[in-house]
Amino acid sequence: MNQISMPPPPIIDFKSVLAAHRASVPRYTSYPTAPQFQAGAGPALMDQMLRDLSADEPVSVYIHIPFCDRLCWFCGCHTRHTLKYAPIRKYLASLHQEIRLLSDRLPCPPRLKSLHLGGGSPSLLKQQDMADLRAALADTFQFEPDTEISIEIDPSDANTELYDGLLALGVTRASIGVQDFHPEVQKAINRPQSFEQTQQVVQRLRKIGIQSINVDALYGLPLQSTDRLRDTLAQCVALQADRMALFGYAHIPWFKKHQRLINEADLPDTMMRFEQADMAAHFLQNAGYQAIGIDHFAKPHDALSIAAQNGKLHRNFQGYTTDNCKTLFGLGASSIGRFDGGYVQNQVATGQYQECVANDQLPTAKGVKLSIDDKIRAHLIERLMCDFRICFATLEQHFSGQIDSKNLQIYRREAIQMAAQDQFGLCRFSQDALIIPPEARAFTRIVASGFDAYYQRETAQYSKAV
Ligand SMILES: C[S@@+](CC[C@H](N)C(=O)[O-])C[C@H]1O[C@@H](n2cnc3c(N)ncnc32)[C@H](O)[C@@H]1O
Ligand code: SF4
Repeated sequence: MNQISMPPPPIIDFKSVLAAHRASVPRYTSYPTAPQFQAGAGPALMDQMLRDLSADEPVSVYIHIPFCDRLCWFCGCHTRHTLKYAPIRKYLASLHQEIRLLSDRLPCPPRLKSLHLGGGSPSLLKQQDMADLRAALADTFQFEPDTEISIEIDPSDANTELYDGLLALGVTRASIGVQDFHPEVQKAINRPQSFEQTQQVVQRLRKIGIQSINVDALYGLPLQSTDRLRDTLAQCVALQADRMALFGYAHIPWFKKHQRLINEADLPDTMMRFEQADMAAHFLQNAGYQAIGIDHFAKPHDALSIAAQNGKLHRNFQGYTTDNCKTLFGLGASSIGRFDGGYVQNQVATGQYQECVANDQLPTAKGVKLSIDDKIRAHLIERLMCDFRICFATLEQHFSGQIDSKNLQIYRREAIQMAAQDQFGLCRFSQDALIIPPEARAFTRIVASGFDAYYQRETAQYSKAV
């Protein structure tokens, strides 16, 4: 039988793409992005969020624990180094007070679809504190048999007490920070962590019944090469993680001062970052993972893969998720909450957060109310980031009753114009859909920024586009 040979995918002139676009682009874990949140707008929006919540609506909760017992030089998270437990204990007291303040304002305990503890390192919490947190949350939200409870774990925190604590909290998914296993890379980012130590943690988690494991790794780190990254990925595959997140290292020393400890001469340039990301995507797919959005990978059985296949993937502040709740409560310093009408963010500084709750005030500091234009652009950007395509017929269904279909033509026209003006093959408009072809997926954030009305006129600095 004659084989029909397919033409190779067009090669994207990656240098020209980057030269033609701004070097930094948002990661679009929300739209509008955090720099658009306005100081002072938070409390009124939080009131609206509570008013808008219907009695039978399931909700999600994110809890931020901004403490670590080590300070990795690459870290871009909102966290503080401490070797003492006293500040953590004090913070937890404030967290309990915030939960009580929220509980007083809720007409009845909402069903809890998912709970995520992030940080910092929530794995620092003592067993009793995890049990107490679960009890406080159970007074405010209804846990259900299928409530997903996930937590970020720094393997260097692991001890017997941690595993008992995870059981007390009812954790169903653990996310393990790996970053890179090469000793020289680890030295350059101040994060020593052996494969054996990490493997023991994964094995122990599975033994106590936490079956779903995510591993975080990074590309673009100092002294990282494609070969070193490949070795790290092979070790991550050996851990048999169900999911992997492979983030590009965001070097933002103007914002995270400790990143100045990283020798910039050791950082791979943009071309090398691109090659690392490209190699990683091929390597993980050959190892049996499916690519999810721009930086996640999951085994075919995993809920993320199934959601991605069914067009049900979502994006939030933690990255890609199957969570489709309209309402997300963000608890703890700097946490961001979301509801249909907007976003709210808590006081970022831990001291100010604690002061607010001590005065019996919800610590909401900033926020942004969404116009219908924001909601539509948020939807367009989310679909591009999740599916690499926007189908304009489904857009009309999605917003039916909220906007006249005539007004939706604006967005279709924008998409057609974006495709017509694109000289690099990043997107095309075909059969009423804007499509990012597989070979251009590394540039998804750039294409998505075409729908970002704020990005077009602002000067905020984000991380590298690739
Ligand atoms: C809160 S941390 C992980 C939990 C735990 N503290 C640990 O380090 O293992 C969440 C993840 O954010 C990612 N991350 C942190 N700083 C980053 C940066 N500057 N650029 C890109 N990703 C970063 C890392 O992959 C990290 O595992
Ligand atoms: S990477 Fe994790 S352990 Fe390291 S400083 Fe950041 S949050 Fe803490």
